[in-house]
Amino acid sequence: PLPGYAVSLADVSAFHEGSNAAVLKDIDLALRQGERLAVIGSSGAGKSSLLALLSGELPARTGSIAATPATLLTQRTELFEDSLRGNLTLADPKASEARLHDVLAAAGLLADVEAMPQGIDTRLGEGGLGLSGGQSRRLALARLFLRATPLWLLDEPTEGLDGATARDVLGRLSAMAAGRSLVIATHIRREAVIADRIAVIEGGRILDVSRRGEVAFEKALDRLRPD
Ligand code: GTP
Repeated sequence: PLPGYAVSLADVSAFHEGSNAAVLKDIDLALRQGERLAVIGSSGAGKSSLLALLSGELPARTGSIAATPATLLTQRTELFEDSLRGNLTLADPKASEARLHDVLAAAGLLADVEAMPQGIDTRLGEGGLGLSGGQSRRLALARLFLRATPLWLLDEPTEGLDGATARDVLGRLSAMAAGRSLVIATHIRREAVIADRIAVIEGGRILDVSRRGEVAFEKALDRLRPD
């Protein structure tokens, strides 16, 4: 991207494999380094697809795309039948013990891990069996924190968490994201209020982009599910 920018997209269209209808159409978007963008819109509008495009997972068919290296935090946390350590170090196999300790603390998971029978070497069951929803989301955060890319792509990062856990997780994400660019796909108000701008996407097109302080920004927030 241009100097000072994390993302620049011009006239981008994209198709999912095997589909002959564009899932993203005429996308123009520029994101500055350190800027936070929320992407909102109905179910099926293309929010997750836009994140996939920015992560490089979904190729652009037309137009031009430039983005700094990004890490995608998906809606569902993929956990493997392995130790907590193994589930964490897949994000950075060279992470030191001190670094693992730091990211677990930043994710709010340290006390839980220390209370487990074998600490960080406790084995998880398939799909993270043995962890609560909040614990597995925090493990996903710790994994994200190990990926020091300038751009983080968050897909409904607190969906399914209770209010108190969600606020804690969002606060931790926000603190660790200082200086990075964020794109947050969401339909929940609490996840969009931390953004500098909100993009509304429908039918694969960006219909509107508003900035904090503008009336349209407040209107966009009002469309979202209350916390
Ligand atoms: P929610 O997550 O439900 O809020 O929707 P979203 O706004 O994130 O939409 P998403 O980007 O997931 O989907 C946009 C369109 O692409 C929908 O019509 C989906 O059915 C379709 N789609 C999503 N993933 C795939 C895929 O892997 N293959 C194909 N062929 N279509 C997909």
